[in-house]
Amino acid sequence: MTTRTLRIAMNGITGRMGYRQHLVRSILPIRDAGGFTLEDGTKVQVEPILIGRNEAKIKELAELHGVEHWTTDLDAAINDPSVDIIFDASMTSLRAATLKKAMAAGKHIYTEKPTAETLAEAIELAQIARDTGVTAGVVHDKLYLPGLVKLRRLVDEGFFGRILSLRGEFGYWVFEGEVQEAQRPSWNYRKEDGGGMTTDMFCHWNYVLEGIIGTVKSVNANTVTHIPTRWDERGAEYQATADDAAYGIFELETPGGDQVVAQINSSWAVRVYRDELVEFQIDGTHGSAVAGLRNCVAQQRAHTPKPVWNPDLPVTEPFRDQWLEVPANADLDNGFKAQWEEFLRDVVAGREHRFGLLSAARGVQLAELGLQSSAERRTIDIPAITL
Ligand SMILES: NC(=O)c1ccc[n+]([C@@H]2O[C@H](COP(=O)([O-])OP(=O)(O)OC[C@H]3O[C@@H](n4cnc5c(N)ncnc54)[C@H](O)[C@@H]3O)[C@@H](O)[C@H]2O)c1
Repeated sequence: MTTRTLRIAMNGITGRMGYRQHLVRSILPIRDAGGFTLEDGTKVQVEPILIGRNEAKIKELAELHGVEHWTTDLDAAINDPSVDIIFDASMTSLRAATLKKAMAAGKHIYTEKPTAETLAEAIELAQIARDTGVTAGVVHDKLYLPGLVKLRRLVDEGFFGRILSLRGEFGYWVFEGEVQEAQRPSWNYRKEDGGGMTTDMFCHWNYVLEGIIGTVKSVNANTVTHIPTRWDERGAEYQATADDAAYGIFELETPGGDQVVAQINSSWAVRVYRDELVEFQIDGTHGSAVAGLRNCVAQQRAHTPKPVWNPDLPVTEPFRDQWLEVPANADLDNGFKAQWEEFLRDVVAGREHRFGLLSAARGVQLAELGLQSSAERRTIDIPAITL
């Protein structure tokens, strides 16, 4: 049996996403399982190389997880001929420069979203991937979540009939940091550092909407900074210059040509009265479903109650009890790990990954046009991107 070992240089690994989702929940479990096996019997193993600015911290992480290789020199890793893949989960504003250098050096890349701060830069990245022929993958984790996998399956099975609308509710209270420490990094709330709800989440919503329903044709957003003052990691007060909430309406078109209205509220200044931190509801002529990260419930037309509006009477229907759990019918792994494995298979096969830099550019475009829509207080049509 032959073994192919992929050396993956991982940048931004001390951050929340880089550490928890990519290192601890994806790459290390793949390594510790001895890699995975391709259809032709080839074994694929991974060898991470940790990259960080703080030598003591990166060394400690490497020792903690039994990782042999680490460095503080990102450029050296990019130019090391033995490195196959450059992974980036560093802060957003640094990303495009790293990815450009990596692809120019002939490396395959795997990256967190958003890929760039501007559409022009995101498109340039997609062009470089096309021209260099490297395999480029961008995290589209939400589509691999059990709840959304089930929702997509309902679409594929024609459960909804004609899809009419989607509504999404995302968010939770992010503490200001004055009395209780904030649970998200402070750069998220500074526009000049690449922060902001719209920039962060609209790139997710673009691939979620595309991946489950269809193409996003227009956006109308109202983006707001509800909390203008926050306290950073060192306890210092700062001005929140980025939006912490975005209320968006999107017009979609299904592959069959149906028009669908999607509304998604995203907020870091909302308290949760939901079952999960994000929930999407799809309503169609034949049925409806509500999916969170893990669970999905559905109600078909024949089981739809017929409420009559009468504020003088107490509620007569146990509405929540009238939905049925949608089963997984498969062993759904951690979404980040599942996408990593799919990407690594594509690298070995020398083919494109299905969620690449062009899809990511459409996400950056939706964020950019969402912000513009809010600033200009109007609906904006979304032009198709051609490379
Ligand atoms: N897929 C998802 O669901 C998801 C969720 C959250 C964040 N993200 C994305 O992941 C990325 C990281 O977000 P995070 O929440 O982990 O942030 P974080 O602040 O926790 O981590 C950022 C990383 O970048 C490094 N870094 C910060 N400033 C740097 C500098 N000047 N030079 C070099 N390195 C620097 C930090 O050391 C850390 O390793 C962002 O692009 C964000 O948009 C994705």
